[in-house]
Amino acid sequence: MKKTQIQKFYFHISDNYEMVNRIITMGLDRPWRRSAAKLASSHGGTMWLDMCCGTGDMAIDLGSHIGPETTLVMADFSLEMLEIAKTKEELEDIDMALADAFNLPFKDNSFDLVTISFATRNLNLSREKLVRAFSEFNRVLKPDGKLVNIETSQPRSRFVRTFFHLYVKAIVTPVGYLFTENKTSYRFLTSSIINYYNPQEFNAILAESDFSNPSFQPLSFGAVSIHSAVKPSTHSTA
Ligand SMILES: C[S@@+](CC[C@H](N)C(=O)[O-])C[C@H]1O[C@@H](n2cnc3c(N)ncnc32)[C@H](O)[C@@H]1O
Repeated sequence: MKKTQIQKFYFHISDNYEMVNRIITMGLDRPWRRSAAKLASSHGGTMWLDMCCGTGDMAIDLGSHIGPETTLVMADFSLEMLEIAKTKEELEDIDMALADAFNLPFKDNSFDLVTISFATRNLNLSREKLVRAFSEFNRVLKPDGKLVNIETSQPRSRFVRTFFHLYVKAIVTPVGYLFTENKTSYRFLTSSIINYYNPQEFNAILAESDFSNPSFQPLSFGAVSIHSAVKPSTHSTA
């Protein structure tokens, strides 16, 4: 799918996005995000960016760990998703930016922490473009700044992986059809999960995007992974 098609998809699904997520993940998306937010917030710092924030679920989880000295910025390229985030009481004091992950409107070395939850598959228009987006996250991070990415992954066990793919085919596509007339988009969503990178392949993408110390933590038998990496302190984009 092209970037404009992805934008259109979120325009159509925005009102039902959270409900579809809850159904497809059997409610697990919430504890998964909470684990990522807890891990991310332990990095500390005063400037945090939640990229591809959507309707703000990750920002709400990050907010529960935020100190008075920390500023959280949420960014997404879908106005409709941001408008839903804006209606949430927990997010009323949070800065929001309409921004494209491939071309962020932030200066080099601005943030201590960049988080991204369940959006990396949207940036995987090609492997090269994914590296470009993560290089952009690297650019806006301060030296020693941390990236935390939570996304579906590939379970290591072949048995679990087969079951996971069958579940995605049996559940994601039909549930998607129920809430959007856009069948092509849900077909894309299904294949983007099944064909996504395994943790080692994704660590290699982080390394190519100039991050160091990539590591990952599998959740739910590896159906989801939290990846963390750091911008090297010697790295300078100025
Ligand atoms: C699956 S939603 C995830 C939303 C949220 N992070 C969550 O955990 O629920 C993917 C989000 O990524 C956004 N997105 C996709 N491509 C983007 C891009 N190139 N730049 C900015 N946002 C993008 C979409 O608009 C959408 O809100």
